[in-house]
Amino acid sequence: MGAVTVPPVAPGSPVPADTPAPASLEVAGLAFAYPDGHQALFGVDFRIARGERVALLGPNGAGKTTLVLHLNGILGGGAGTVTVAGMPVGKRHMAEIRRQVGIVFQDPDDQLFMPTVREDVAFGPAAAGLKGPELEERVDRALALVGMAEFKDRPPHHLSFGQRRRVAVATVLAMEPEILVLDEPSSNLDPASRRELADILRALDVTVLMVTHDLPYALELCPRALILSEGVIAADGRTGELLGDEELMRAHRLELPFGFDPRAVSSGAAERA
Ligand SMILES: Nc1ncnc2c1ncn2[C@@H]1O[C@H](COP(=O)(O)OP(=O)(O)OP(=O)(O)O)[C@@H](O)[C@H]1O
Ligand SMILES: [Mg+2]
Repeated sequence: MGAVTVPPVAPGSPVPADTPAPASLEVAGLAFAYPDGHQALFGVDFRIARGERVALLGPNGAGKTTLVLHLNGILGGGAGTVTVAGMPVGKRHMAEIRRQVGIVFQDPDDQLFMPTVREDVAFGPAAAGLKGPELEERVDRALALVGMAEFKDRPPHHLSFGQRRRVAVATVLAMEPEILVLDEPSSNLDPASRRELADILRALDVTVLMVTHDLPYALELCPRALILSEGVIAADGRTGELLGDEELMRAHRLELPFGFDPRAVSSGAAERA
């Protein structure tokens, strides 16, 4: 038998429907051990298409933060690759990668260090070369998106935790990132602030990867979820289906709040605008 031949594509034929759109994020074979020898990631693979909102779930110590720190090159040097909008994360493109991957850390105080909210939000865009009215416009737009416009001239350390969390989100949005990565966005927020942040995140037209232990929040905001467990992706699917799989949940130490029934939340709710 001769070699298998691939039929040539006729000129002018349409692009196959399954041609993948450019992924916001692609993680392939990512493995990593800390310098003390503790291995935290054992070959992680997933892909997030532009505009998706994906929850990253998993028990304490699963490797979620370790994974997040690889997305903009804070950690690296292990096996595998991370690609953001087609660009490999590595020393060569670090400035551009830091612009494209907006990480909101769990503690806003790790992110806010300037005397005023305005300066904190302007910091990244100014470092990227923006100035004058263009810079002011960028700052105003980011603060308006998180409902913090009137706090522009206040010192961040005079704001409440929830307000600082919103400003931290604004500092990242001001960079107009390809992907917004949030580590525990709902932690320490009162119910109203938690709701308001959900509304803000839902209204954003940006790819989102959200690390959370708040499973109802994941269901509400993210149609898709990944479960990271012992350094590997243990499940990748529709959030409602994963949360409704009792065996899967138990196997990865994930517990729904008492009385919460993911099946009672209609699957459409996760995608409601
Ligand atoms: N600097 C470090 N040096 C050595 N081991 C570390 C370091 N940081 C984290 N680890 C280990 O790597 C593993 C993954 O930790 P990581 O912080 O990524 O987990 P996580 O999923 O974010 O957990 P949590 O839900 O508690 O935030 C853990 O076993 C942890 O002990
Ligand atoms: Mg963590």
